[in-house]
Order: sequence, then C-alpha cells, then structure tokens
Amino acid sequence: MKYIGIPKNFLWGASTSAFQVEGGYKENGKGLSIADIRSFRNSETRLDTKETVDGYHLWKKDISLMKDLGMKSYRFSISWPRVFPNGDEEKPNKEGLQYYHNLINELKRNNIEPIVTMYHFDQPYGLIKKYGGWVSRESINDFVKYAKCLFDEFGNDIKYWLTINEQAVLVVANDMLGISQDLPIKEKFQKAFQANYNMWLAQAIVYKICRERFPDTKIGPAISYITTLPASKKSIDMMEAKNFEDFYSFSQMDVAIHGEIPKQFTNELDKLGIDIKTELNDKEILQKGRANILGVNWYCTTIVEAVKDSKQSDFIFKRMKRVQDKNLLYTEWGWNFDPVGFRYGLRQVMDHYGNIPIIVSECGWSEKEKLENGKVHDLQRIKYLNDHIEQMGLAMNDGVNVISFNPWSFIDILSAGDGMEKRYGLVFVDRNNFEKKQLKRYKKDSFFFYKNVIKDNN
Ligand code: BG6
Repeated sequence: MKYIGIPKNFLWGASTSAFQVEGGYKENGKGLSIADIRSFRNSETRLDTKETVDGYHLWKKDISLMKDLGMKSYRFSISWPRVFPNGDEEKPNKEGLQYYHNLINELKRNNIEPIVTMYHFDQPYGLIKKYGGWVSRESINDFVKYAKCLFDEFGNDIKYWLTINEQAVLVVANDMLGISQDLPIKEKFQKAFQANYNMWLAQAIVYKICRERFPDTKIGPAISYITTLPASKKSIDMMEAKNFEDFYSFSQMDVAIHGEIPKQFTNELDKLGIDIKTELNDKEILQKGRANILGVNWYCTTIVEAVKDSKQSDFIFKRMKRVQDKNLLYTEWGWNFDPVGFRYGLRQVMDHYGNIPIIVSECGWSEKEKLENGKVHDLQRIKYLNDHIEQMGLAMNDGVNVISFNPWSFIDILSAGDGMEKRYGLVFVDRNNFEKKQLKRYKKDSFFFYKNVIKDNN
C-alpha cells in the first residue's frame, strides 16, 4: 500500500517509554520514580512498574523484532532515576548509563534511528521528597544537570531529542507530579502551574545548551496535542473549543517555538487566582532557548460544547464540557477514531509554526486482546494505522513537514492509566496483570500490516 505525500527517506518507527516497558525497577542502582510510586498504589488491582514486559532484560530480542518490522526509528525514553537514582547526586549511575549505551549501540547497528525522550512521567521520587519536585525551582538545576549528562554521554549519537513528554497531561493529572490530591483544587492548580512554568524554564535552558553544542541536532518537547472540535457550529462552542485547544496544547508549543507565554494562557490562570513565582531574567531564558522540532502525541479528537450560563470569568475547564459524537467509534476507554482530525490537527500546527519539523511521537489504538493460536487479529488497529497514515500523508502533501511516524506502541506496555489489559502494541506480550508467564512476544496482525507499509513506502 503506497500513500500520497510520504517521501522515501521518511523515518517509520514506533514508540515506548521506560517505566512502561522496562521493569527492572531497582536493578543496577535504579532509584524509584513518581511513576513507580503511583503504580504501587494500585499493585493490588493491576500490574505495576516492577517488571512490566521486562524490556530491561529482553531489549536485544525486542530490537531484533524492530529490525524484522523494518523500523527506521525507535522513540523511547531514558529513565531519569536509572541515571540519577535520587535525582540530586553529583555523579550519574554508570550502570544505568551503560544500559542505554548498549541499547543505542544496538539500534544503530541495526540502522534504527534513536529518538530519545529525556523524561516521560518518571521524575526521581527523591526530588519530590526533597523539595516537591517540579513545584520547586530547584528542580530546574537537577533537570539541566541530567540533560547535560545525557549530552555528554550520548550527544554524538543522538540526532533527535524530546525533552519532556506531555507536560500538559502532568499539569492536569498532577498526581503524576507528586502533588497531593488531598489539597483543595485551587492549591493543586497553583502548584501544578508553577511546576509547568519551571518545566518551561528548564527546557529552554536545555534547548539552548543542546543547540550550541550540537548545531545539527533537533530538540523539542513531546506535546499532548488534543485537536479540539466544537460540538456544533454555534460560535460559542467554536470559541470554547479554540480556547481549550490554545490553552492546553498550543500554549505548550508556543513557549517551545516562540519563547513566549501566550496572553490567553496567562488570562486563564488569572481567573483561577494563580500567582506564578517568576524571576527577573526568566523572559530572556525563554526567548533564548527555543526548540527546533516538535514531538506530537496524537490519539483522537476531543469534541466540546460550551457550558450553558457559564461566564467568561470562569476558568476554561468550567466553561466547556466534553461530549461524545454518536457517529464515531470509541475505544472502551472513550478515545475516538477520527483520522481526518489528525490531518486537520497537523495542518493547524503548520498554520502556527510553518515548516517546523514534526515527529509524530505517539499515535495509537487500544484494545483488550487475547492470543488465539499464537495470533492476535487486531483489525481495528490496522484500520487505525492505515487511516491515520493516509491522513498524515495528505497533510504532508498539503505542506506539513512530518519527518517521522512512531505509533504507540511498538510492543504491549503497561498502560499509563489502566494496567496491562489496555493494549496498544504491534507486538503482543503474553502476560496479564497478575501472571508473568513467559513474557513471550508474538507478532500481531498489525505488525505484518505495518511491515508492509514500511516496505512499500521506502
Ligand atoms: C500518552 C502517554 O499520554 O498516552 C503514554 O505519553 C500513554 O505514556 C499513552 O501510555 C496512552 O495512555 P494510557 O493511559 O492509555 O496508557
């Protein structure tokens, strides 16, 4: 199957993250992360991060599957607490670094381009205990130290860095930042938006360092891009859809690309009475440290309608509510199938940022799945991939500069929100929430489909 708009040198890949795929949660000096701690709270009811699908030991086997699939890129994350177990050590954990040297070397030997995320939901828990994690400005130095260490170790091998995964998700689901959920809502948001601000500064510093040291390297954030559509053609629904999308997704991209916090974002925080602690030269830090690539995580569209009788002085989350479109198919977890929304979203990114290179760093369909005689017939995932690739190609034909597509996920992983039952992989792992079994890997039907896509479009 050939698609319009996708050039030959395109980086066809797939995606995972450390805490979801590795396991080995305290091996060779690894410290605990907030992702570990959160998952342990649910150990009774679903799989936690201790073993997951054991990528920490089975990485070589997994890379041979990637090779078989024909992958040209692999988007994965480095576990921050494998490198700095508590986050505040002066020297990194050599064994932790060695694991990633082995992984990266093996990828390169197989001509698979590593696309590396620095921080995917797994800040060292030590930093949260010490000073509240990202809520404190101190975390900026610890993140910059970690990024510098990654540049020292891997800078010559990595052409594509993604700094922070889905910062907007961290702010909304701020338990992932270690913020106590017992606090009143306003206090939670006060802390979460301060953390958001500190993450912006930290990344700006890291972008600057990277671009000075490695001028040919691309670096940027991995954005949770929720393309937001109005439930009706009423202008108020359209307005609130735009308000939400700008606030949630485009503010993140604007800061990374333009180095400025949009006024609309600040207006919304004012409505909540949130007061961000800033310092004199912060504006300059943001201006001087800009991303030169965007990672876009895209799953589905969100359809919103304005809340009746809400006032413009209410915070955005109070002025709109999500609704379902009965004509669209939804996963069991409420994520819709709306591939044209993907093309539309990519076009919007181009409208904002011109020909900035885009890595689609996630895009995927989840299902509960069973192995039947060694096979998984994941037909809806095949349809999802086909239709989204087709729409991405059309967007590229319209001029959008996508350079790489990395569906979520290469292999079944521990879902961030829902344990092992919610599967995304092209490769099935024979384990469930409570039985580890042999962790044997099986190629799903989508694996064979995607393999042909890569072959036919090269
Ligand atoms: C993205 C995350 O938000 O969505 C992934 O970057 C996550 O880590 C994915 O797995 C899907 O979410 P969930 O909760 O279904 O695993």
